[in-house]
Amino acid sequence: MSHSSVLLQMENLSVTYFGPPDVVAVHGVTLDVKRGEILGLAGESGCGKTTLIGALTRLLPDNGEVTHGRIEFDGVDWLGLNEREVDQWRWTRVSLVSQSAMNSLNPVISIGEQITDAIFAHEPRTPKADGWDRARSLLRMVEVDPSHVHSYAHELSGGMRQRAMIAMALALKPDLVIMDEPTTALDVVVQAQIIHEIRSLQERLRFSVIFVTHDMSLLLSIADRIAIMYAGEVVEVGTRSILNHEASHPYTRGLIQSFPSVFHQRTRAGIPGAPPSMVNPPSGCRFHGRCEERMAVCSVYAPEDRDLDGIGHRVRCHLFGDSGITDRQPLAGRGEGSGKSC
Ligand SMILES: Nc1ncnc2c1ncn2[C@@H]1O[C@H](COP(=O)(O)OP(=O)(O)O)[C@@H](O)[C@H]1O
Ligand SMILES: [Mg+2]
Repeated sequence: MSHSSVLLQMENLSVTYFGPPDVVAVHGVTLDVKRGEILGLAGESGCGKTTLIGALTRLLPDNGEVTHGRIEFDGVDWLGLNEREVDQWRWTRVSLVSQSAMNSLNPVISIGEQITDAIFAHEPRTPKADGWDRARSLLRMVEVDPSHVHSYAHELSGGMRQRAMIAMALALKPDLVIMDEPTTALDVVVQAQIIHEIRSLQERLRFSVIFVTHDMSLLLSIADRIAIMYAGEVVEVGTRSILNHEASHPYTRGLIQSFPSVFHQRTRAGIPGAPPSMVNPPSGCRFHGRCEERMAVCSVYAPEDRDLDGIGHRVRCHLFGDSGITDRQPLAGRGEGSGKSC
């Protein structure tokens, strides 16, 4: 087993949904998750966040397939594991809290049975009473009254259901908890409470978290590092502090400005235009059609990743390129076929 500080490494990962039409929903994503960190993943709806999570959890729908790249989890080739191995890893190494807790919880089985089922399935020698004690203390840990072990999903409020899902996700002490818009359906007060709890549980238990949301201001307050997705690609990655103070990709800056921030008291500006079609993505930089700083080069050549500070503030934008093709001149006269397109 590896002892590197990196728990999960995605390399040049692409995911296609086969149609027709075929949709390349994730395109060339390289990203890691360090041990004990909260990695935020942000981007507008439809940019491929849930698809990326589907690849990571091996829960893509039937027409979805990883067509390129590699995922290494704790030194193991994650995409090379068979279904049985993936089942063994699920809940014990990686668990998922999805957007809709109501749909993920079984309506005809009590909360306690669902938690203990997971415990007994993976740790069959656990005495029954111990399993139920653990379910109660897990509920207590997420601030749900332990008497709710006997409740059914419909008897709980939305916030309590989501807490119960988090309790379940933590039941077998996984190394990585993936949360895909876990609080989006909840009101802001409950959302804030739950996020505060996730942060304090994570600090205590030191698991890693991938926290997915379209709400950038949330990540700017809780994540250790943040990755920004646009049209299937990661366009910027950096620490929370870097993104708070030195966000560099024009899309990231637009995204930050479109949410009122607790730090900056900005007004909502929004990014003009809509995300491009994923069936037929734009040439060059996928953001060029909406970018206020676009140059002639942007519609022709796809930008490559650039590590701006040498320690992981990575940006995919021609403004930060270092080659001769990043000038602001029109492209007339430039040879064809030498560039790279998506
Ligand atoms: N099962 C599917 N079949 C075909 N296309 C899909 C499927 N699921 C999602 N997509 C498409 O993949 C793209 C990314 O979707 P998704 O990963 O859900 O984005 P996000 O979670 O960021 O909102 C979208 O264009 C969406 O329409
Ligand atoms: Mg989603």
